[in-house]
Parts: sequence; C-alpha cells; structure tokens
Amino acid sequence: MSNNTNEEISKRRTFAIISHPDAGKTTLTEKFLLYGGAINMAGSVKGKATARHAVSDWMEIEKQRGISVTSSVLQFNYDNCCVNILDTPGHQDFSEDTYRTLMAADSAVMVIDASKGVEAQTRKLFKVCTMRHIPIFTFINKMDRDAMDTFDLLDDIENNLGIATCPVNWPIGSGKNFKGIYDRHNDYIVTYADTLKGTKEGTENHIKLDDKAQIDENIGDEAFEKLQGEIELLDGAGAEFDLDAVRKGELTPVFFGSALQNFGVEIFLQNFLKMATPPTGRVSSEGDIVDPQEHGFTAFVFKIQANMNKAHRDRVAFMRICSGRYDASEEVKHVQSGKVMRLSQPQQLMADERKILSEAYAGDIMGVFDPGIFSIGDTVCMPKDTVKYEGIPTFAPEHFARVRQVDTMKRKQFVKGITQIAQEGAIQIFQEYNMGMEEIIVGVVGVLQFDVLKFRLESEYGVEIRLENLPYEHIRWVENEDVDMSTLVGTSDMKKIKDMNDRPLLLFINEWSVGMTMDRNKGLVLSEFRKN
Ligand code: G4P
Repeated sequence: MSNNTNEEISKRRTFAIISHPDAGKTTLTEKFLLYGGAINMAGSVKGKATARHAVSDWMEIEKQRGISVTSSVLQFNYDNCCVNILDTPGHQDFSEDTYRTLMAADSAVMVIDASKGVEAQTRKLFKVCTMRHIPIFTFINKMDRDAMDTFDLLDDIENNLGIATCPVNWPIGSGKNFKGIYDRHNDYIVTYADTLKGTKEGTENHIKLDDKAQIDENIGDEAFEKLQGEIELLDGAGAEFDLDAVRKGELTPVFFGSALQNFGVEIFLQNFLKMATPPTGRVSSEGDIVDPQEHGFTAFVFKIQANMNKAHRDRVAFMRICSGRYDASEEVKHVQSGKVMRLSQPQQLMADERKILSEAYAGDIMGVFDPGIFSIGDTVCMPKDTVKYEGIPTFAPEHFARVRQVDTMKRKQFVKGITQIAQEGAIQIFQEYNMGMEEIIVGVVGVLQFDVLKFRLESEYGVEIRLENLPYEHIRWVENEDVDMSTLVGTSDMKKIKDMNDRPLLLFINEWSVGMTMDRNKGLVLSEFRKN
C-alpha cells in the first residue's frame, strides 16, 4: 500500500455509540461533532424531528412516524484523526440493523445515565460487542444531575455486563454539588463549569491536588476529603489501567461528565482517540486475518436499506471498507456473484447531506446504490482478489407474530413479498413443523419492523395481512447437527419451529425455560446468534 493510504487508514477511528434511549447518545454525538468542527452550533444533530429526519427521509413510514428507521454515519476530523461515528437506532426503531451496525464498528462508546446505571438496551448491545471482542469505552453521563454512588455505578457495570472497569477520571459530587472530575492520569482536578454549554470555547480550570487555596475556593473541604478517601480506595482496589486489556474488550476505561453541559466530553474524546485502535484486521471465511494496510480494497455489506425512493425501488447497500483504498474510478468484484463492476454512486451519508465519494479508506462506510445484487454479509474486493468475509450472524428476534393474509387469492404475492423482505434482513420468517407457507411466524428485533412489514406488503406487493402477536421472547437455534426434534423434551411454554433453511429452533416465553430445556436434554447446544 502507498504511504499515503496507510497514513489515511491509521487516522481512522470507527465506532458506534451504544446506550439505552435517553442516556444522552444524541447529545454526546452532537458535542463530538462540535469539536470536530463538523457543525458550528450544537443542536444540528438533535431535533430528531427536523435535522435527523432530513437525513433519512426515505421511507414513507418514517415520515408518518417522524422517526428514522435507517441509520447514518457521521464523519469528522479531530486531533489528526478521521472519526466515523455509526449511528445505532434506538427507541422504537431499534432493529436488527442496530446490531448489524455494531459489526461494522472497531470500537464502541457506551453511554450510561449516572442516575440509572446499566439499562436493558445497553445490555443487549453490549452482548453483541463482546461477541466481537471490540474495545468498549464508558462515558457516564448526566453528572450535573443527582447520580448513583460512583462505586455502585462501577459495580453495576462489572456485575451486569461482566467487564472490568478502570476509571480514567473520577467525579467530585453530582447534581447541584457537582464540582468537577479528578483526572487520574494527569493527577489534577478539572473544575466543572456549565459555561461551556454548547460551545467549544471556554477555559478548563486545572487544579493540582496540593493547591490548597484553589481547592478551598473551588471544591471545599468536605468534597475534597471524600475525594481523597475515594482515590485511596480506588488505587488500592480498582483494576490497573491496561491498554492491551482495553483493546481486547476485557477492560473498559470509564469517564464521567455531562454531555448537555459539554463537560468532560473533550477529555473523553482525546483519550478515546488515543486508546482506540485504527481499523484492525477482519477474519475471512477461511480464517485468515485480512490486514487493513497490507491488503488491497475489500469491504463487506452490513446493511441494506430498501425503497428509499419508492418510485425507483431503490436499495442502498451500506459497506464497511475493511482494507485498502477505494477508488471510484476502478472496477471492483462482488464476490458472491463473481460480477466485476463499478459501484454506483458511492456516497457518504452525513448529518445533513449526502456526499458522493471519489475515494475512501479502510474504516470508512459508504452507501452504494444496489441494483439488487447485494445481500447482507457480502464481500466486495478488487477484481483479481478472492477474499471472502465471514457472514454477519443472524441476531435473535425478540418479538414474534403469526402472519395471515387477508385475501387468500394473493398467495403468490404474499409469499414473494414476505420472502423478499426477509432476504433483505428486516424480518426473519419461520415455519411450524408440518405446516406450509400458509402459516408463517415472523420474528423481529424491534416491534416497528412489524409495521414496516405490514406497510411494505401492502404498498409494494398489494397484500393485506393480519398479525397475531405471540408471547415468545426468547429464541434459540439448535446447533446440534443430528438432533431429533420430535423427541426433544422441552417445557410447556416451548414451541418448535424451523427457519427458511430448515434449521431447527426453539421459542420460549421465559428465559428460565431455556435452562430447563438444556437440563432435560443433555448435550443439547443452543445459541442466541446464528452464524450465516
Ligand atoms: P438519546 O439520544 O440517548 O436518546 O438521548 P438524548 O441525547 O436525546 O438525551 C435525552 C435527554 O437527556 C434530553 O433531554 C437531553 O437534553 C438530556 N441530556 C443529555 N445529556 C444530558 C446531561 O449530561 N445532563 C442532563 N441534565 N441532561 C442531559 P430532553 O428533555 O428529553 O430533550 P430536549 O428537550 O433537551 O431535546
């Protein structure tokens, strides 16, 4: 690779933010962009109904709901790094895409609300990150509000998520009594001021621990004594900072701050960019690691967005570049079909615009118009190359419904429509044993996908359906090759089904039943993810 290409690649930091709705992901993203100069005034990313909406004003359903079904990528430069933030949709628009986006990230930033600790959605997203062993950086947000005890917060992360924590800084008070943070690496206190609100100007006041006068004035005796006690405890008991463990995803560095008041954000960003790695090698299906700098252009498709423009039946395939440099003037090969072609209108989807790309590097994400050849997990590389990446796992749906068509005369359209939508990856379809396609069970990660399915079947295939919600919440693929499903003994709330590739699955209402079924069938191997 040329020096320039390698330099560009080593500047890349590609990450996703994982959090529970309302923890402050959007606010933090907005402040990051502010430092990167990508926007002039904080607030441009926010207004979900306005700016964000304009980015992905694609599907009719988005307009009706005022939310974004799709997610975009934000790129900005800071400290000689080129930062790509992958937006992971939350709220009702949480879907498999949210998980798939994590497949394209090299690290994750976990935002936690200091008054709430680890919440459900964070836990789910975290699980996917650990599966890939990517580094996870924790930002404990909303310190300007009353927070949980700091040690309790760390315990909560360790116990709930099973990852060791290492606070890089430490908060002094919270809410009305929030005084700032103690920076353990630099050994000084950064005092809190909410005057930085929404701007990157403003001076940070640093106080050394032996500067009695400044401490008296800014922190006060009581808070300082408490801090000293906590630091002592921490130095004695906390995990040592170990960059290697961070990069393997075994230890999460923890930072505190307030995204809203723009406090602690830049310190976090600076540390994060130093600790996070540039794009790392990705495993091919042969088990080889493809080096981002040594290998020529390769990419894989992690998301397909259909029907952005209904009139044209557009599909956009989102690709993560894994190695080398993409040059829009050169032809590339779609490995699965063997077709050599020029990618159509490769673009980067920014906060408020789409930019046509002429070149991009490992670590970058691009959206490409898809004439209908790409599938999720596909590989693209240089024409002579033969590399093929491992597929993206199928994630466990969490909501299930039985689907029936209203007009049984439209069988063909129904089967065609539902199979195509399933192939795009928005829904998963299953069948009961001894049943044909007239009874289909649909599984989705986020409930909105049910509405998307209903809407698309009607508007694109002219088929009206009825959905009957099923009470199952837990799905497990049976991994054993030679299992006899008819003799498998489960629990009373269990249902046996198969996916479209005839792979056997079990549905459960209670998580407890999963363990029970394992106990009752020795040697049974169940998995929550399905490698494709
Ligand atoms: P999300 O993307 O994770 O869902 O969260 P988002 O940033 O939208 O933040 C959720 C709410 O929490 C917002 O308030 C936001 O202003 C607030 N918030 C974010 N960071 C902080 C923080 O550090 N301190 C405090 N006190 N609040 C914070 P909202 O009232 O729901 O929205 P808005 O009316 O402010 O837009």
